Order: sequence, then C-alpha cells, then structure tokens
Amino acid sequence: MEKQPKVLVTGSGGQIGTELVRALRSMHGTENVLSTDLIPRDRDEGAEGPFAQLDVTDTESFVALLEEHKINHVYHLAALLSSKGEKNIDLTWNINFEAHRKLLAACYSHNVDRVFFPSTIGVYGPTTPRQMTPQFTSFQPSTVYGITKITGELWNQYYKSRYGLDVRSLRYPGVISYEVIPEGGTTDFSVEMFFELKRKGHYVCYLKKDTRLPMIYMPDVIKATLGLMQAEVHQLSTSMGYNLSGFSLTPAELFEELQRYYPEATISYEPDARQQIADSWSETIDDRTASDDWGWQPDYNMQGMVKDMVKHVV
Ligand SMILES: NC(=O)c1ccc[n+]([C@@H]2O[C@H](COP(=O)([O-])OP(=O)(O)OC[C@H]3O[C@@H](n4cnc5c(N)ncnc54)[C@H](O)[C@@H]3O)[C@@H](O)[C@H]2O)c1
Repeated sequence: MEKQPKVLVTGSGGQIGTELVRALRSMHGTENVLSTDLIPRDRDEGAEGPFAQLDVTDTESFVALLEEHKINHVYHLAALLSSKGEKNIDLTWNINFEAHRKLLAACYSHNVDRVFFPSTIGVYGPTTPRQMTPQFTSFQPSTVYGITKITGELWNQYYKSRYGLDVRSLRYPGVISYEVIPEGGTTDFSVEMFFELKRKGHYVCYLKKDTRLPMIYMPDVIKATLGLMQAEVHQLSTSMGYNLSGFSLTPAELFEELQRYYPEATISYEPDARQQIADSWSETIDDRTASDDWGWQPDYNMQGMVKDMVKHVV
C-alpha cells in the first residue's frame, strides 16, 4: 500500500479549511491529517480527527508540531481576509506575511516535502486587465490583504528557486459554500444572499448590482487544491499562484437565478467600503495555465452551483 503523507492544515476551522480537512482525511486517512486553528476545536467540523490549537505567528509551536507529527505536507490556510484586513493592517501583515515567511523557513529546515499556499484574486489591482486577467500580469493590489498575498507568492517563488522547497499556490476567486458562512471578505455577498433570501426573503447587498466578480463553488476549490497538490512537479510551470476560476457573476445575476427558487424574494443595494475593493479586482480570469499544466477544469457553472446550494441552505 502507498505510504500516506502526514499532513498539517493551518486555519482549518474556516470556510475552506472545514471542507478541505474532510477531503484530505478521506484521501490520506483521518489520523494522518492534523487540523490546527487559532480558535479551539468546536469550529473544526472534522472533529473526530487530530486537532491542535495553533497561532501561526507562534513559529516555535508550529515547529514543535512538525517534529511531533513528522509532517510531510502543509496546507497553510490561516489568514485575515480582504475586508477584515483593512481594519487591522499590522496584524494582517503579521499573520498573512510574516508568519508565512517563518513557516516556509521552518518547512525547509524540517524537510517538509510540499507546501500549499492559497493566494487570491486580491493580488490584482487597478493596473491589471480586468477581463480575462492573464496568468502573468501587473500586480498593484490596493488592499493590505492583496499586498501580503502577492508578497507571499514571491516569497514562495524565492524558496522554490533558491532552496528547492516545493511550494504550490492557487489564486482562489470568491468561494461559495454552505457549511461555514464566510466573513471578512469582499465576495461574501454570494453566500449571504442564499441564506438571507431563504430566511428573510430579502437581501441588502453591499455591492452595486452590476459588480462582476470571479467565483468558484467549494467542490471545485477542493478539486483544484487536491489536483494541484497531486500533480507531478515537472508538470508545474510556475511557483507563483495559478490563476483559477469557476464562473463570474454580478449580484443582480445571482439574484435573478435565485428568484427561480424564491420567486417572492427581493433585494436592495447599499454599497459600502467593499465596493472600492471589488472595483479593483478582476471580472473574469484566464486560468488556461492551470488547465494546460495539470488539467484543471471546473465542474460547476453558476446555474449548477445555485441548484446545488439551494438544496443545502437552511
Ligand atoms: N474564502 C474565499 O473566498 C477566499 C478567496 C481567496 C483566497 N482565500 C484564502 O484561503 C484561505 C482560507 O480562507 P477561508 O475563507 O477559509 O478564511 P476564514 O476566514 O473562513 O478562515 C481563516 C481561519 O484562519 C484562522 N486564523 C486566523 N488567524 C489565525 C492565526 N493567527 N493562527 C491560526 N489560525 C488563524 C481563523 O480562526 C479561521 O478559522 C486564506 O488564506 C484566504 O486568504 C479565501
């Protein structure tokens, strides 16, 4: 039988970690996947497996876990997201970049075979082409979140080229899912709308109706993440984040699709500070490098995502 890697996931209690840990446990075995988060266990849905409380800014504790569990693969998800990040820029830099920099050094010195780092469409900015944003393009992000993530990508590239550390990364677009309601991001409306329409019949959207943003449904996030981490190293042409997309939508288009399920529902628009962030991001993404290198293809378009989401939203 193939030897399973020992896996550590940081920030595992969040929107993505909750579902990624479950997928990793079903692939590698529950006991082989250590979930960790700043917040104690009750937010970790895969609660039957091993868990350790870990603040990623505490490198000593991270190293102790690498040693104790003989970790081979690290999925470093812990971060403050775009909207929350603007409210505390120093903390965001410390968690999203400084902790990442030290984590890479620790992974290298402890012979970790493979590291996953989630990047974001937040690395783009006003100088980036907004339609079919190319893989290699201009990066002048306007948020501290974007700055930490593009710097993180560059740091990954440096560790790969200088030390040979196998670091892999995806630029996730807005992630739509139903298990953990996201908070602190700019694309949260795409999940909130489902819950508010179902529960209250009305949604107050914090973005303008025609704000187009690239999105992805959680099963495709898991598929892409595992697909990239399972690819052979020679298939990969970049250690920067791969562009990734499922589909693009505006709040009005999502609402129109949802009216098929909730015909009485209503929506109003009250743009707030997140509008400015959204306006600096891409509308559509060219993710052909990911398709060409390791065969990325999403399974869900907007209609397929909505059809599946409404079955699960309560
Ligand atoms: N959700 C999205 O739409 C999206 C899009 C692009 C990129 N990403 C990236 O994916 C990753 C996971 O995102 P998510 O949506 O699950 O975020 P989330 O906010 O739902 O979860 C983040 C988790 O990190 C934990 N955390 C915060 N500070 C920590 C610290 N100091 N030490 C340890 N844990 C800490 C939080 O408790 C939380 O459980 C992040 O790196 C994010 O930048 C997410």
